Amino acid sequence: MSQQNGIMGWINDRFPLTETLEYHVTRYYAPKNFNFWYYFGILSSVVLVMQIVTGIVLTMNYKPDGFHNVNGIPGAFASVEYIMREVDWGWFVRYMHSTGASAFFVVVYLHMLRGLMYGSYKKPRELIWIFGMLIYLCLMAEAFMGYLLPWGQMSFWGAQVIVNLFNTIPFVGEALSVWVRGDYVISDATLNRFFAFHVIALPLVLIGLVVFHLVALHHVGSNNPDGVDIKKHKDANGIPLDGIEFHPYYTVKDTFGVVVFLAVFFAVVSFAPEMGGYFLEHANFVPADPLKTPEHIAPVWYFTPFYAMLRATPPMFGSAFPGVIVMFGAIAVLFFLPWLDRNETRSIRYRSKAFKIWLWLFVVSFVILGYYGIQAPSTFGTIMSRICTLIYFGYFVAIWFISGNEKTQPVPDRVTYK
Ligand code: HEM
Repeated sequence: MSQQNGIMGWINDRFPLTETLEYHVTRYYAPKNFNFWYYFGILSSVVLVMQIVTGIVLTMNYKPDGFHNVNGIPGAFASVEYIMREVDWGWFVRYMHSTGASAFFVVVYLHMLRGLMYGSYKKPRELIWIFGMLIYLCLMAEAFMGYLLPWGQMSFWGAQVIVNLFNTIPFVGEALSVWVRGDYVISDATLNRFFAFHVIALPLVLIGLVVFHLVALHHVGSNNPDGVDIKKHKDANGIPLDGIEFHPYYTVKDTFGVVVFLAVFFAVVSFAPEMGGYFLEHANFVPADPLKTPEHIAPVWYFTPFYAMLRATPPMFGSAFPGVIVMFGAIAVLFFLPWLDRNETRSIRYRSKAFKIWLWLFVVSFVILGYYGIQAPSTFGTIMSRICTLIYFGYFVAIWFISGNEKTQPVPDRVTYK
């Protein structure tokens, strides 16, 4: 029984409130040397909350209706226009949500890059990484389904192209794509089921995964830019010498990061919510028309590296199935990283030149792929995409070989500050 009096004592006798807060916040000892790269976990959490709150408000006026027309405009498209023009602050909430989707991927990609640089996926943090990858998959499904909801030209045709990829799977492909769409083409049935997944099913899974991600993190403790295990040196009370309480030290530091992030975020929401067609594509301001295919169909920027790989892979027997395998393989291979990288040294600071070169080649190839995935197909673009796809997969092969017999530098015993 708790020794506390008053309301806290009453609660603590019935629910481990203080114990939970101490375990996760006030007595969670995080390494002293967190740097810039450690902002992106908290920023991902901020964007997650923002997306859920703005999503709830949008749902109050949005209608998933691809069937009925309002003055000749499909119901779903008309309801988004209504939100933008008639609902008080509707434009603001909608732009927060659409910009939030891109912001989510910006912070999550940087968060993942930090993991690659500091070897945060390695023992004992493999499960944090696996949960992270599942979050990433879930996030991609969430963004893809959300993009259909405004029922614009790119919503419709983008979904058409991606769902048609299931057609390429031998034997079951066609039946599978009809099952996913609920129809032979993208239709009202597809819109309604994507709405159900986007608004409730996937967010529930996402929140559950984020909870697991953080529980696993707090169970083993955070990594740091040196990749040093801070639990090796503890004081007489068992507190890591290189650790500081998450609250107040990192709550204050993270608040600073969140404020800077929000300043940039709201500048984009206010002044460039379409970001020149990168966050909201121009074709999506035209209502979905099943009879008129846009000249150039491209997904939103955060999918384009994988889209470029799909387009760059030569078809086999007239089927795009190899491209589909390459595209999904590019995501799947990331799950195995904790076992492909066999070296015990975590941080890039103490790893070999070869490792550093391959990591940056990997990052640059991913960005170039993203660029060519947005552009209309061209011979040069295809060649570049092929080279970059090879480098992308080459990274995983290289890391297996390099890490087996790598000349690393000695890792310091205690954390350092740079
Ligand atoms: C909704 C998305 C996500 C949220 C809200 C989230 C949240 C967090 C938070 C708050 C932390 C601790 C603070 C920090 O280290 O920055 C963290 C750590 C971590 N996350 Fe995520 N994360 C997300 C997605 C991902 C993804 C997609 C991956 C990788 C596939 C990932 C991998 C990791 C790893 C490896 C750590 C431990 C880092 C370390 O200790 O060095 N996370 N995450």
